[in-house]
Amino acid sequence: MKHSETILIIDFGSQYTQLIARRIRENNVYCEIHPHHIGINEIKDLNPVGIVLSGGPMSVYDEGAPTIPEEIFKLGIPVLGICYGMQLMAVNFEGRVEPAKNREYGKSVLQLVTGCKLFEGVKNNSAVWMSHGDYITRLPNSFNVTARTENSPICGIADSARNLYGLQFHPEVNHTEEGSKIIKNFLFKICYCSGNWTAKNFTQSSKTDIKEIVGNKKVLCALSGGVDSSVAAILVDKAIGDQLICIHVDTGLMRENESNLIIKMFEEKYDLQIVHVDASKIFLERLKGIVDPERKRKIIGETFIEVFENEAVKFEGVEYLVQGTLYPDVIESTSVKGNSVTIKTHHNVGGLPEQMNLKLIEPFRELFKDEVREIGRELELPDSFIGRHPFPGPGLAVRVLGEVTEDRLEILREADDIFINELHRFELYNKIWQAFAVLLPVQTVGVMGDFRTYENVVALRAVTSTDGMTADWYRFSNEFLETVSNKIIRDVKGVNRVVYDISSKPPSTIEWE
Ligand code: XMP
Repeated sequence: MKHSETILIIDFGSQYTQLIARRIRENNVYCEIHPHHIGINEIKDLNPVGIVLSGGPMSVYDEGAPTIPEEIFKLGIPVLGICYGMQLMAVNFEGRVEPAKNREYGKSVLQLVTGCKLFEGVKNNSAVWMSHGDYITRLPNSFNVTARTENSPICGIADSARNLYGLQFHPEVNHTEEGSKIIKNFLFKICYCSGNWTAKNFTQSSKTDIKEIVGNKKVLCALSGGVDSSVAAILVDKAIGDQLICIHVDTGLMRENESNLIIKMFEEKYDLQIVHVDASKIFLERLKGIVDPERKRKIIGETFIEVFENEAVKFEGVEYLVQGTLYPDVIESTSVKGNSVTIKTHHNVGGLPEQMNLKLIEPFRELFKDEVREIGRELELPDSFIGRHPFPGPGLAVRVLGEVTEDRLEILREADDIFINELHRFELYNKIWQAFAVLLPVQTVGVMGDFRTYENVVALRAVTSTDGMTADWYRFSNEFLETVSNKIIRDVKGVNRVVYDISSKPPSTIEWE
């Protein structure tokens, strides 16, 4: 998609780079993150109205420390260097950077020194968040000091004539009191952005683009009922109507009544063309006797592709596949971070396009999850749907620990349903990133009436998180836990014990398998 104005963020590996992007987009300004080795011609092609140089873990004098072409500063485009980005800028203009005697980490107080556009309306002595071991000891040529802190005499710099600004602290983190004002100043007072990047405009131009790309060809979509693929399907449907064919594969590993609800909602409310494939028998058959989590994931992924392909070949003239890929996945694949080991083989429709020779349509490649939710609202999807917790591709198979059987799935479905309903009843559902029940592969002794029981254990998991990468367990009231536990043990046949998972991620993961 073409954008009328773009801010370019050059990434030097800071843990906060995505946060910078989100802060900018909150102001309805489009921005893109690119790795630091982006070439000058690529930058010119992007034609940004402003450039942000992110922070990074290294020291500018370290061997192999990332740099940028000097020409960046000669393009006449405003630049904001944050932390490492500021230090790079300083070194480029013959300033000096040295390791600090007192490493400043955490909160400091910002004292404004000389006025500059970046600090317009920013109050003096506000709290800022620092996180670096180096600081500037000699001011670069033609720059002024705009701010300092107790340990950083040069904490803000500016060459206003050339629109170059630097900050030693992080305006993008919440702990920096005046951070959003500073970012706003950069966007609107320095780069003169118009702030017209809204969900409404995105939806409009995306529909036009999709129509143009697809022409009269047909498009497939694997509609699982997850938020991203569902919003993508509706967007594409608005663009090309009947040329979109959605295939919903019921793996038999869905939650209580889930497949029916999905079909009903998309057929009745949105009039989508949906092929409903009940493949639960095949999935269960292939999972028979399998207890290893990775084997389960592989089998489910492969079976899904097979079932989907068998359906897809029934349609002629199909050239495209819609996917709900999000921006973090795109950045991840081009990021400056090293390769990481596989913790879990994530199953989504990843293998489909290569096998089937389909071209991809990924309308949300440039968006964060909360932005997709915003588009969903724009397309009038109900809030209850948009706010649904994430659900893993392999479904309940990774929540029935040990062998997956129809009986065990049913026990889990009932317990999970009670847990989720109680979350709604106590008005907790929207405060939690993800909550679910897990059926453990152990049996414990209990007593019901005068009888000894020897039955299953259900674990409850509920976490808060912003992106699923890290998570903390949710602190429920005793009353809530007691209510859920009592209901599950009373109503779900085959369960005589409920436990609550109090592990954070890391070192645990959100799902148990
Ligand atoms: P973990 O368990 O790795 O999960 O901490 C992080 C988030 O990812 C979800 N998850 C998956 N999502 N396919 C998906 O689309 C998968 O195979 C898969 N496995 C885990 C998990 O539910 C959590 O939100």
